[in-house]
This record gives sequence, C-alpha cells and structure tokens, in this order.
Amino acid sequence: MELKIEGLTKKYGEKIALQDFSYTFSSGIYGILGANGAGKSTLMNLITDNVKRNGGKILWDGKEILELGKKFRSVIGYMPQQQGMYGEYSAVGFLRYIASIKEIPHKEANEQIKQLLEVVSLENAAHKKLGGFSGGMRQRVLLAQALLGNPQILILDEPTAGLDPKERLRIRNYISDLAENRIVFLTTHIVSDIESIAGEVLLMKNGRLITHGSPADLIAEVNGNNLEDVYMTFLGAE
Ligand SMILES: Nc1ncnc2c1ncn2[C@@H]1O[C@H](COP(=O)(O)OP(=O)(O)OP(=O)(O)O)[C@@H](O)[C@H]1O
Ligand SMILES: [Mg+2]
Repeated sequence: MELKIEGLTKKYGEKIALQDFSYTFSSGIYGILGANGAGKSTLMNLITDNVKRNGGKILWDGKEILELGKKFRSVIGYMPQQQGMYGEYSAVGFLRYIASIKEIPHKEANEQIKQLLEVVSLENAAHKKLGGFSGGMRQRVLLAQALLGNPQILILDEPTAGLDPKERLRIRNYISDLAENRIVFLTTHIVSDIESIAGEVLLMKNGRLITHGSPADLIAEVNGNNLEDVYMTFLGAE
C-alpha cells in the first residue's frame, strides 16, 4: 500500500495554494499541521480529486489516480471539513445514501451502519433528522460516513473540531485503532491530538511542506517538550 505524491501544485488564480508537494505515504497515521490557509484542505481535496491540480502526480501503488478513476475513489473514505449535510435525512438515512453511492451491498451496509453508529455514540439518534443535530453530532455522522466500506485511505479533515472533550478522546482513540493497514490523513489544529496518535507529522506553511518526522524526532529536533513547541518553532512566526 503506497500513495506517492510528486510535485503536486494547485493554484487559485495567482494564489498558490499548494506548491511542489512531494511525499510517499504508506500505512499509518499522518498528522498534517499548518496555520489557516497553509494548504492542508487543498492537499486533501487533490487526493480525493475534488479539485483539479495544476501539476504533479498522485500514484496509488504506482498508478496515476486520475487514470484509476472510480477504482481509486472506492478505496477512499473522506470526512470533509465543511459540514454540508442533508437536514431532512435521518442519520441512518444519510448513511444508507452514502453507502449506496459507495455501492456497498444493502445487507452489508446495514451491518456497517449499525456498528458505526455505536462507534460514534449515535445509536440513540439513528432515526432523528440531521437538521436537528448539534455541530458535534453532525461531525460524528460525517466521521461514520467516511468509514463506510472500510476504506484503505482515510482522509479526516478536522475530525474532532466541535466535539466535547469526552467524545474527542473517544474518537481519537478510535482513529488510532484504525491505522493498521490503512493510510490515515488527519488535519487538525488540536496539536495534542496529533502528538498522541500520529506516527508521522507534516508541517505546512504557505502551500509548502516545510518539515516532517515522528512527533518524538521533531520534538527532539527543536529541544522542545511537546508538539506545540515544534509548531511554534516552525510556524509561530506568522
Ligand atoms: N476554492 C478556493 N478558491 C480560492 N482560493 C482558495 C480556495 N480554496 C482554498 N483557497 C486558498 O488556498 C489557500 C489554502 O487553503 P486551504 O483551504 O487548503 O488551507 P487550510 O490549510 O486547509 O486552512 P484551514 O486551517 O483554515 O482549514 C488559502 O490561501 C485559501 O484562501
Ligand atoms: Mg482546511
């Protein structure tokens, strides 16, 4: 399992949102850190092919994802940062809808949905309309839909934003358990979440990858006590 990115570049008009990004990902949790506008979501949107790139390659086990098309999309679970949701759907209804897009067979989908609603502690709200959900509850439904189909690549853009501390910890532990035999991308501004579960951390600034390493190595490199110190050393001057 290998996702290889080479020279990936994205511009919005004159603005370079991602510049010459190269990295090879294999199974594990990758924490992506960077200030607002650093290019984190842009990178995620390029991997999911939600936006068109201006240059570079993304290879999944050696094959360009644009050529793999649907075959590649079926290995991805994506939890977007924006909460665009269908208020009239119930939680179960929404998950069934996503399962049908992912072409998961009916019976299997129902089993997965039941299990995932428990994982995100929403089994009691399964048949309630999303329109009446709190922000944190919506966030958990979004995480559940990303996990449908047991994807090999999991992209979580700010998955714990808006969660109360108890749910945040629960979800964080759960994400940590998911990493085996899977590539997990995790972007968040909650640096301590990344420190505790990411095997590798990538720091981005102004569309560029500026450094990367394990949390322990990065902390040692800056003679710091925690990943916050790493963040402030590399990104604090903004
Ligand atoms: N659809 C768009 N149109 C124009 N500019 C965009 C668009 N999406 C992103 N950008 C610009 O690209 C840059 C990178 O944005 P991106 O959303 O990737 O940042 P981010 O690291 O995810 O930030 P945040 O922490 O706020 O989520 C920013 O300067 C942003 O303004
Ligand atoms: Mg973002």
